[in-house]
Amino acid sequence: MYGTITGLELAFALIGFLIAWLTGNKASNLVYSGSSDRLRRKMAGLLVWTCASALSALVVLLAIGWIMANQPAVFWEDRLLIHAPLIAVPQLAVWCYSVPKLWRWKRGLLRSQDAPDPKLLADLAAPGTVLPFQAAAAGMGTVFYFLLVAPFPLGPLDVFTPLLVCLLTLAGLWMLHDRRWQRISRSAPPVSRSRRRTFGKLAALCGAAAAAGIAFYAGMWESRLPDRLNMATGPMDFGTGTILSHDESRAVSIAMLTGPRDEIPDRRIELVAEKTTVRLASGKTIDAWTFNGELPGPELRFKHNELVEVTLTNRNIEEGVTIHWHGLDVPNAEDGVAGATQDAVMPGQSHKYRFRAEQVGTFWYHSHQHSAEAVSKGLFGALIVEPADENQDSAPQKDLTVMTHIWDGTGFTIGADEGIRRETVAPGTSVRLRLINTDNWVRQTYNLQGTPFRVSAIDGTELHEPGELRDTELQLTTGGRYDVTFTMPDHPVYLKVGSGRELGLLMSPDGSGEVPAASEPAAVFDPTHYGTRTAIPFGADSAFDREFTMTIDNNLGFYDGKMGMVYTLNGDVFPDTPMFMVREGELVKVKIVNRGSVDHPMHLHGHHALVLSRNGEPADGSPWWTDTLDVQPGESYEIAFRADNPGIWMDHCHNLTHAEIGMSMHLMYEGFTTLYTIGRESDNHPE
Ligand code: C2O
Ligand code: CU
Repeated sequence: MYGTITGLELAFALIGFLIAWLTGNKASNLVYSGSSDRLRRKMAGLLVWTCASALSALVVLLAIGWIMANQPAVFWEDRLLIHAPLIAVPQLAVWCYSVPKLWRWKRGLLRSQDAPDPKLLADLAAPGTVLPFQAAAAGMGTVFYFLLVAPFPLGPLDVFTPLLVCLLTLAGLWMLHDRRWQRISRSAPPVSRSRRRTFGKLAALCGAAAAAGIAFYAGMWESRLPDRLNMATGPMDFGTGTILSHDESRAVSIAMLTGPRDEIPDRRIELVAEKTTVRLASGKTIDAWTFNGELPGPELRFKHNELVEVTLTNRNIEEGVTIHWHGLDVPNAEDGVAGATQDAVMPGQSHKYRFRAEQVGTFWYHSHQHSAEAVSKGLFGALIVEPADENQDSAPQKDLTVMTHIWDGTGFTIGADEGIRRETVAPGTSVRLRLINTDNWVRQTYNLQGTPFRVSAIDGTELHEPGELRDTELQLTTGGRYDVTFTMPDHPVYLKVGSGRELGLLMSPDGSGEVPAASEPAAVFDPTHYGTRTAIPFGADSAFDREFTMTIDNNLGFYDGKMGMVYTLNGDVFPDTPMFMVREGELVKVKIVNRGSVDHPMHLHGHHALVLSRNGEPADGSPWWTDTLDVQPGESYEIAFRADNPGIWMDHCHNLTHAEIGMSMHLMYEGFTTLYTIGRESDNHPE
C-alpha cells in the first residue's frame, strides 16, 4: 500500500505542478482580454483550472495524511515540515485571497464588447492577485523535486537550496508583476507585447536550463569513482557508540584473516570459470559465464566443520572472477570480494580459498566481481552444508535444491530447467526443498500444493519448532533462502514457482502425475511470529554498544558519472555511504527503514543478524537469523548482531543491479585495513 500511495503522491505532484503552472499563466494573462465579455469568460476558465489545481494538491495532501496515519515519523517528517506547507500555503492564498476577488469582479462584468474598466485591469494585474497562482505552481514544483531527490536524512543544504530557488523565482515574478501593474495603473490600456513576453520567457527558460546544465555536469563529474579507492577509508559512522580511533597507518591488513592455511583440507574442490555456450534442458543454447561448464555451477555439499579448499581458476573471463560464499560466515580474507578481501582473479590466474564450514544449512556461492553481470550470466551455484553425523539409515530422505534464475532470453527456470521438473519420491520419505532465489528485481513466489509443510530454515539457520503450514505462499527476494520440509504423501505434491503454471517441481511416488489446478494461497508466510522462542544470545532489551540507522530511499541522482534513479543508503551512494564502524566484540543494533518504492534485500557479509522487530512488532516466534533481509517499501526492521568476525564486510542490496549503481556500504572493524583497491584504474569491481 505504501508503494501505491507514494506512487500516487509522485504522479499527482507532477500533474498538480503542470496544472498549477498553466493556471498561473492564465491568471497572469487576464489583463490582455480586450473586451469585458472575453475577460468574463477567461475568468470562468481560470476558476475551473484553479479547482483542478486544488484537487491535485488535495490528492498529494491526502497521500501525506495517509503516510502520517500509517507509518512512523521517519517516513513523513519531511513531508509534514516541507511538502505540506509548500502545497497548502499558496493554495490557501489562492482560495482565501485571489479567488473571492476574482469572483466579485467577474459578477460585476457585463457581456459587452467594450474594453474593461482600466481600474479593474490594474487590480487584475496587481502582484497580490496573480502571484498566489504562480506560488502554487512553484510550491508544487518544489515538492515534486523533493520527491525525486529526497533531502533525507534532513540536511540543511539539501533542504534550503531548492527552497531558496523557489523563493527567488517568486521574488523575480513579483518584481515583474509589480512593474507591469505600475505601468497599467499609469497608462491604460495594457498592451499585450506578446513578442516581448515570449522573448522574456525564453530568456528565463534558457537561464534556468543553463543553471540546470551546470548543476548536472557538476554532479556527474563529482560522482565519478576515483581512479583508486581503498575501501577501508572513507566517511565513518560510529552510530550511537564511542568514536573509534581508526588509524589506517597502524591497522592490520585483513589479508591476515585467512582460514586455516597449514592443516590438510578434508575436501579439495576445483572450480574453473569460463565463458562458454551451454545447452539448457530444453535444448536452447545460451552464452554463459560458467563454473566447470555447468549452469548453474556445480552444487557444493560439505559436511559440518570440514576444512574445505576451493581452487578457483579463471580460464577466459576478462572481466575477472572471485567467489563469495553467500551466507557462510567465513574469515574475512576468504570472503571473496574483489577490491575488499582479494584482487579479482584475472584470466590465467588462480586463487585458493580455505575455510571451515562452521554452519549447517543452505547457502550459495557466486562471483563478487562485476557481480550483477557475473551472477546473471551464471557464475553461481548452490552450497549446502550437511550435519556431520547425518544418520544415513534413518527414514529415507530426499534433498532437492530449487534454485530459480532467468537466463539470457529465458523466462524463469529452476536450475537449467525451463518447465516442470519431475521427481520420483516414495511415500513416507522426508523431503527437504532448498529454495534459493538468485534473480534481481524478483520477489519470487513458491506455492507447495498437496501437502502441509514447514519452513524449517531461513537463510541457512534452522528454526525452532516451526509450525505446520498449508495454503501459504512463500516469497523470496534475491539472495534469500528457505528450507521447506514435509513427509511425502501417497499422492503427487507440486511446488509451483512463480505465478504461472508452467514452472515447478512435481514430486510423485512414480514420477508421473498431473500438475494440479492453480489455487489461490490464503496467506503469505511471515517469519515474525512463526515457530517458538528458544534461547538467544541477545535480544531487544540487551544493552547495545552501538546502534545504527540505515535509511533506504530512491532518488534521482548520479553514480560514477551517470545520472539516473539511484538507491541511497542514508542519503548517499557508494563511496559516499559512510562505513558502519565497530570494535570486535561489540553488540550492534541496526534499524533499517525503506522509504523507497521497491524491495531491497539487504545482505551483510560475514555475520548473521537476529531480527528483533518488523514494523515495530517484536519478532516473537522462533529466533529468526538472517543474512539477506527483504525490506519492502514502507517497512522498517530492527536487527542485531555480535561483531565477532573482524575485517571489512560488504553490506549491500542483493538486487545486484542496485548494488551496481552504488547501493552498497560496508561494516568496518576498528584496527583493520585492506591492501586492495577498487576504482577506475583497478581491475577490481566488486559490484
Ligand atoms: Cu551474495 Cu555481497 O553478496
Ligand atoms: Cu536494492
